[in-house]
Amino acid sequence: MYTQSMDTMGKDGDASPASAQPALRSAEDLQRQERFDARIDGGDFIEAKDWMPDDYRKTLLRQISQHAHSEIVGMLPEGNWVTRAPTLKRKAILLAKIQDEGGHGLYLYAAAETLGSSRDQLLDALHTGKAKYSSIFNYPTLTWADIGTIGWLVDGAAIMNQVPICRCSYAPYARAMIRVCREESFHQRQGYDSLLVMMQNGTAAQKAMVQDAVNRWWWPCLMMFGPHDADSTHSEQSMRWGIKRISNDDLRQKFVDATVQQAQVLGVTLPDPDLKWNEERQHFDFGTIAWDEFWRVVGGDGPCNSERLAMRVKAWDDGAWVRDAALAYAAKQHTEQQAA
Ligand code: 3HC
Repeated sequence: MYTQSMDTMGKDGDASPASAQPALRSAEDLQRQERFDARIDGGDFIEAKDWMPDDYRKTLLRQISQHAHSEIVGMLPEGNWVTRAPTLKRKAILLAKIQDEGGHGLYLYAAAETLGSSRDQLLDALHTGKAKYSSIFNYPTLTWADIGTIGWLVDGAAIMNQVPICRCSYAPYARAMIRVCREESFHQRQGYDSLLVMMQNGTAAQKAMVQDAVNRWWWPCLMMFGPHDADSTHSEQSMRWGIKRISNDDLRQKFVDATVQQAQVLGVTLPDPDLKWNEERQHFDFGTIAWDEFWRVVGGDGPCNSERLAMRVKAWDDGAWVRDAALAYAAKQHTEQQAA
C-alpha cells in the first residue's frame, strides 16, 4: 500500500550530511550549540552555511521536503479540471495557478537542498512512499465547484499556515515563503471569486454544487493544520527553534475565525452544527475533527493516496528522457569548453 509514513532524513545513512556527527560532543560543539541557541533566542536568522544542530537540520529537511511534495502533489487534483474548465478565462487562471504550485515546489526543493540533501534523494523519498505530503491532496475533485473551493479553503488554510513561516528562523525557507505567500493570495482570491460568481449568478444546481463542495472540503481543510498541539510530535521543539511561530491549534482557530464571515458573504453554510461565536473566548467554537480519518489518510489509506503517488511516479518516469538529454547536453558543452 502507498503510505505517507516518513523515515526522517538522517536515519539509515540517508540524506543529512550531519548525520555523521559523533554522539559525544566536543567542547567546540558545545560552544557552537550555545552560539546557535543565543542566535535563535535573539531572533536571528540562520543561513545555510552557518553551523546548526543535527536535529534542527533534520527537522527542517522533514518539514521543507514535506511542504515541497505537497506543492507538487497539490497540482494533481486541480490538473484534473484543466480540460473541463467552463470558460477560457477560468482555464487560463487555473493553468497559471497550477504552474505557480509547481514553482513553489521548486523553490522549496531548492531550500531543502541547502540543508545537504539532493533533489533525487528528496524525490525518491516521495516516490517510495517514505515521505509525507499534505493529507488534503488525497481527496478527489468531483465537480468544478471543488476547484473554487480548493482556492478559497485549501489555499486559504495554506496561507494562514505559511505566512508565519516567512519569519522561520531558517533564512532560505523564510525567503522562499515570501514569494509563495504572495502567489497563494492570488490563488485564494481566484477561488473565492469563482464561487461568488456561481453563488450570485448561478442556477440552483450550481449553488447546490458549491454547497456540496464546501461540505466535503471543510473538515479536511481543518485537518491540514495537523494534530492538536497536545498530540503534535514536533511543535514544541519547532517553536523553540523558531521554525514554527504559531501552533497547529492556534492557526486552525485563526482560519475558522477568518472564514466564517467569508462563508456568510458567499451564502454557503459551513457543515458544522457546533460552529458558533464564543463571546468569552472572542473566537468561534467548532465541532470535533475526525482524527481517525486524518490519521488514516496520513497513513496512506485516503480516497486518492495510491492514485496521487502513482501519477507522480509516472511523471518522473516519463520525464527521464528529458533529464538524460539535459545531462548529455551539459556534458557535451563541458567537454567542448575544456577542449577550446
Ligand atoms: N498531512 C500530512 N501529515 C501531517 C499533516 C497533514 N496535514 N499534519 C501533520 N502531519 C504529520 C507530521 O508531518 C508529523 O509526522 P512526521 O513526524 O512523520 O513528519 C505528524 O503528523 C505529527 O504532526 P506535527 O504537528 O508534529 O508536525 P509538524 O510540526 O511538522 O506540523 C505542519 C505539521 C503544520 C503541516 C507543518 O509541517 C508545516 O507547517 N509545514 C509547512 C507547510 C506545509 O507543509 N503545508 C502543506 C500544505 S502545502 C499547500 O497546501 C500547497 C498550497 O498550494 C495549497
